[in-house]
Amino acid sequence: MNKKKSNTIYNPKLLWFYAIGVITVWSLFIGLSLLVHQKTMHSGALDAARIEARAAFQNHVTYRSWNAAYGGVYAPISETTQPNPYLDIPERDIQTPSGVKLTKINPAYMTRQADKMAWEKFGQIGHITSLNPIRPENKPDIWETFALKSFEQGKTEVSSLETINKTEYMRLMRPLITEKGCLKCHAGQGYKEGDIRGGISVAVPVAPHFAIEKTTLKTFAVMYGSLWLAGLIGTIFFMVLLNRQIQKRLKAEDELRRHEKMEGVIEMARAVCHELNQPLQMILGNSQIILMEDIDNPALSKRVKLIKEQVDRMGKMTKKLIKIASYETKDMPQGKVIDIEKSSR
Ligand code: HEC
Repeated sequence: MNKKKSNTIYNPKLLWFYAIGVITVWSLFIGLSLLVHQKTMHSGALDAARIEARAAFQNHVTYRSWNAAYGGVYAPISETTQPNPYLDIPERDIQTPSGVKLTKINPAYMTRQADKMAWEKFGQIGHITSLNPIRPENKPDIWETFALKSFEQGKTEVSSLETINKTEYMRLMRPLITEKGCLKCHAGQGYKEGDIRGGISVAVPVAPHFAIEKTTLKTFAVMYGSLWLAGLIGTIFFMVLLNRQIQKRLKAEDELRRHEKMEGVIEMARAVCHELNQPLQMILGNSQIILMEDIDNPALSKRVKLIKEQVDRMGKMTKKLIKIASYETKDMPQGKVIDIEKSSR
């Protein structure tokens, strides 16, 4: 019955309830970590694409400055390099002593040709533009108009993920600032050094960056998954062990409690026996005295003998009971009872 009592205090189901709680928190933690990691990696991929786009823009600025420093450079006229109708300067087209026809290539013209090459070679898009274009085809699109307007409000760069012709690009735009060399051709329009003349927008495909992100993420997903599994197995293992330990301890406690209870009972029995001993001795002594005296009544003598025998038995029993140090139990229909025979040996 003690066992029953302890079982109501400890319910193994509760342990599994805790285990489920721990596993749930663990799963949430792992899931959230993976999500945060994925988000960080995605913004990392976008950052990498942005850096690539920025580098493309810087390349444009570098060769354009080189060209502008010369006030434009001459190139042979060909099918693809025709004189620029918008370039209104003396000696735009010249001829070498041997008769090769040359035309001046202004930075914007060079940029347009370079953009064409970057598109054909690397799938990168580039576009030189201005809110106030000399060449009408250089007019900005909606995205570029927004960017150019924000440059006038002090922004130095605009970038975003854009889909152009079903392909995802990192689109980035920075302003083109009027330098000293630019004024040779653009001073007439009222520009001064430091003014925003326009800008170049570039767009680089993000697919290679997303591909890297995907492979890295796969590796991390496997890692997080293994970690999750290890936690799961660890928790179950720990709970099983804990349950076994608790059961063992409860059993030991039950045993101890029963033992203590028995000890008390035995103590009491011993005290009672002690007290009983004296009257028993008295009865025994008296019956012996009666028997020693000649009684001619054989029936009475038989009875006294019987009393003496039974008192003897009782005396033996009480002695045995007093001798009980540790107890042995035996199973009886009414439950466990102390085996006096075995216990008093
Ligand atoms: C040799 C003359 C020349 C020089 C130097 C020059 N530009 Fe231009 N620029 C032009 C001409 C002509 C156009 C318009 C036609 C075209 O697209 O080629 C133009 C176009 C532009 C455009 C495109 C928008 C538009 O107006 O069509 C921008 C932006 C620009 N120039 C900025 C600059 C900057 C910044 C510099 C200095 C680094 C510079 N240019 C130097 C002649 C010049």
